[in-house]
Amino acid sequence: MAHLIPLNRLARLVGQPRSTLQQMAQQGVLRTFDGQVELDEVLRHFPDVALDNEAELRRVEEIKEKALLKPAARPELPDAVVLHERLKSLSREFAEARGKLQHHERVHGRIAGRLVEAVERGQATAQFSEQFLAWFRRELATPAADLRPWEDLLAMERVMQVMSAQVTVLPTGQTFEVMGDETLLEAGLRAGLSLPYGCSNGTCGQCKCRVTSGQVVKVHPHDYVVPAAEKREGYTLACAYTAVGDISIEVPLWGVADIPEQTIVTRVRAVERLSAHRVALHLLTPRAERLRYLAGQQIEITVGGVSRIVPGAGCPCEERRLEVHVPCDGTFDRATIDSLKPNDEVTVRGPFGEFVLDDRSECPVLLVSSGPGFAPIKSLLQHALSLEHAPRITLCRLADADGFYQDNLLRSYAAALDHFHYAPLPQGRALSLALDDIVAELRGIAPVGLAGASGLEVPAGLDLPSGLEIPSSLSGVDVYVAGEAAFVEAARRRLAAEGLPASRWRGLVLE
Ligand code: FES
Repeated sequence: MAHLIPLNRLARLVGQPRSTLQQMAQQGVLRTFDGQVELDEVLRHFPDVALDNEAELRRVEEIKEKALLKPAARPELPDAVVLHERLKSLSREFAEARGKLQHHERVHGRIAGRLVEAVERGQATAQFSEQFLAWFRRELATPAADLRPWEDLLAMERVMQVMSAQVTVLPTGQTFEVMGDETLLEAGLRAGLSLPYGCSNGTCGQCKCRVTSGQVVKVHPHDYVVPAAEKREGYTLACAYTAVGDISIEVPLWGVADIPEQTIVTRVRAVERLSAHRVALHLLTPRAERLRYLAGQQIEITVGGVSRIVPGAGCPCEERRLEVHVPCDGTFDRATIDSLKPNDEVTVRGPFGEFVLDDRSECPVLLVSSGPGFAPIKSLLQHALSLEHAPRITLCRLADADGFYQDNLLRSYAAALDHFHYAPLPQGRALSLALDDIVAELRGIAPVGLAGASGLEVPAGLDLPSGLEIPSSLSGVDVYVAGEAAFVEAARRRLAAEGLPASRWRGLVLE
């Protein structure tokens, strides 16, 4: 039976970002089966893979970790119980393989016996029998040189299976890796998935999911009791259990309408001056609480008894950390914001708004921000980078009087991540010229490739032979634009005129 390796694990094995492999798969270059790749296919594309050299991947992971303010996946040893279960499961596989080997050895013995009988019956010559057996023993004793990389790759993948497990979320097919002591919930949220949850400590039952294949083991105690009938159907608590080996779980991911409004008293971690008119507030929720929201949504903050809805600028995968960008005009003046010190209380309420990433899409993404639209666009960018689904992400940015704040952060992403392109447009550029630039960037990331690859639009009724190159199509790009009303409307009209379908457009107006 063919040996399949999940895409996440393969990315780590061959030292490539997952998005690169995703792009190869979408272009039809790398053959995948339900998000997995055959071992032979891996060696065909990465014949020189150096299994002990993860330096480049680590460098990229470190930049992402620093920039996204969240812990990267670390190859830590899992909890002793999990380790025991994983070793037990691998031992079973090993015993099965050993049993097969012994069976093959017995078959080899029988072949030799049959040959002797054939010689005795005059059905084969003694010379043929000796030559055949000599060749047969030689072949068995000398492993073929071309199997060496195959064995190395397989051995490394087995080590990874002990350190981590892959979880496939149904029905979307999204995947994430559980490392070290993580629960299913922790690992899923770290990967940027909008898994449902409430208390995250085993009390409310909101994180219930159904395990459809594979085995889970409890790593945290929980008070919530899963009803016996549901238990029999495979339901478990994502905040208390982890995966023993690769598993599939069935769980409806959260959409905007599913997230309840919450009020949480946070503490100020830092106040970052972005410009004369804007600051970034970095907040921390209490230890046992985190704000449930989707990237791109807005949050109401209350400072000194005054409230205002402001855009979030972080990623839900950042656990207890929140970042909001606050304009210092009108509701809050500069003096109010400047008076905030680390550890001061700021009450947050929310989330609000529907400007969120289509995290099931695997199309290239064009993000466009103008002036105040940068915060939600940055939030979407961090979420998209976390998910590693989009094969290419381009951010076009127009500045207002506040300029290109947090520019270095975006440049560090662009330097580290091959699939991310940052395009700050010259300040003061006429709107029509800026829109020309945006259209050029859009055309630059629109899928072009072979018929039959995903993300490429083939006109209805046209039966193109697989493998034929077809031109780029704007229907294969997700576009998100945030900024002042006039700019968002001008961008919508222009991109629609260029052929961008309305279903691929999402806009957010901010003042
Ligand atoms: S999130 Fe409340 S029980 Fe898991």
